[in-house]
Amino acid sequence: MRPPASTALLSTGIEGLDNILGGGLTPYRTYLVEGEPGTGKTTTGLQFLSDGARNGESVAYITLAETGEELQAVAQSHGWSLDGIHLHEVLPTEDLLQADQQYTMFHPSEVEMANTIALILSVIEERKPTRVVLDSLSELQLLADSPLRYRRQVLALKQFFSRRKCTVMLLDDRTAASADLQVRSIAHAVIQLEQAVKDYGAERRRVRVIKYRGKGIAGGFHDYNITRGGIVVHPRLVAAESRTIRRRAQLKSGLPQLDQLMGGGIEEGTSTLIVGPPGTGKSSLASQFVSAANAQGQRAAMFLFEESISNLLNRADGLNMGLREAMEEGQLTIQQVDPAELTPGQFAAAACRGELAGRQLGGVDLLDRQLPFFHRLAQAHV
Ligand SMILES: Nc1ncnc2c1ncn2[C@@H]1O[C@H](COP(=O)(O)OP(=O)(O)OP(=O)(O)O)[C@@H](O)[C@H]1O
Ligand SMILES: [Mg+2]
Repeated sequence: MRPPASTALLSTGIEGLDNILGGGLTPYRTYLVEGEPGTGKTTTGLQFLSDGARNGESVAYITLAETGEELQAVAQSHGWSLDGIHLHEVLPTEDLLQADQQYTMFHPSEVEMANTIALILSVIEERKPTRVVLDSLSELQLLADSPLRYRRQVLALKQFFSRRKCTVMLLDDRTAASADLQVRSIAHAVIQLEQAVKDYGAERRRVRVIKYRGKGIAGGFHDYNITRGGIVVHPRLVAAESRTIRRRAQLKSGLPQLDQLMGGGIEEGTSTLIVGPPGTGKSSLASQFVSAANAQGQRAAMFLFEESISNLLNRADGLNMGLREAMEEGQLTIQQVDPAELTPGQFAAAACRGELAGRQLGGVDLLDRQLPFFHRLAQAHV
């Protein structure tokens, strides 16, 4: 098997996560991925290993809690195959359920801890993997009867892995009794996954890199989603990075009197807010700008919060604006936004990455009740 070059950063298998990590993971280090149950640790681990397997590396998933079948089910739900990933279960045997096994002269955890560590080491010696995922640390923490023993064992594991040129992801579901910062201090970098449920809508997930030794990272929270196919991270926008100095053109509305009122049109690269009571023609005015841009061969994107796409197109047809034709020709993209399902980070990423690429005019059609969404969007980008 081909080991990775020592200087190149390793991909986590998740593009957005690599971006916020400043390019990826330094090889031969131990990383901690922590998050409550269901936040996507196993999925992250599998994506990291799949990336290695794709490069022809030997990779191993050592599971202390989930069975091989459960892992297969996770992979299947994303449409992945686990071929090329060595799955190794280090689970308590069914013998533990026998009554006579439940009373021993020794503290049972001491024996079990020693056995568990020995099994982990034997897998590494045998398979010589370059990437390892250990799922999950809370099992080890529960077996170690004292914080001192736990820390010593994790430190010893870290040294063992590093000497054998393994890059390791330790997964921690933080369910062990005491909230513990020991492993955070030992790990080279700590990635924290979080999820929160709002009163309405899908759960909101966000990721933060708590530390990364000797490396610049994109700090703060970044939204992510779990979809079929894996985790998608939407790195937070940094306004300063997208500022450019160039001569500004003016975009015309196609209504000479209005353009005259605005000193020639709206300036490219700026934001304009159209306000007015219901029925005063805000959406129609925005459509007018879009239609004028399309007529001059410019591309435009619209995001609709309240109105449906068909309503917008029907009204535009009635006003003879030709939005439908522009959409069919690919000059105009219209995206319906459901703020209950789409997180602010996801919306920003979609707007920047795809829908707005190469487009001169972008419009968002919203009512004041969506302002909290934009408030959070602004907060997310401070
Ligand atoms: N195909 C899929 N499409 C969308 N979401 C999915 C899909 N498969 C799994 N998920 C989501 O991923 C979540 C579980 O991810 P994962 O098993 O990686 O979490 P975990 O942090 O390892 O959990 P645990 O602590 O229980 O091991 C599920 O809660 C589910 O919402
Ligand atoms: Mg898991």
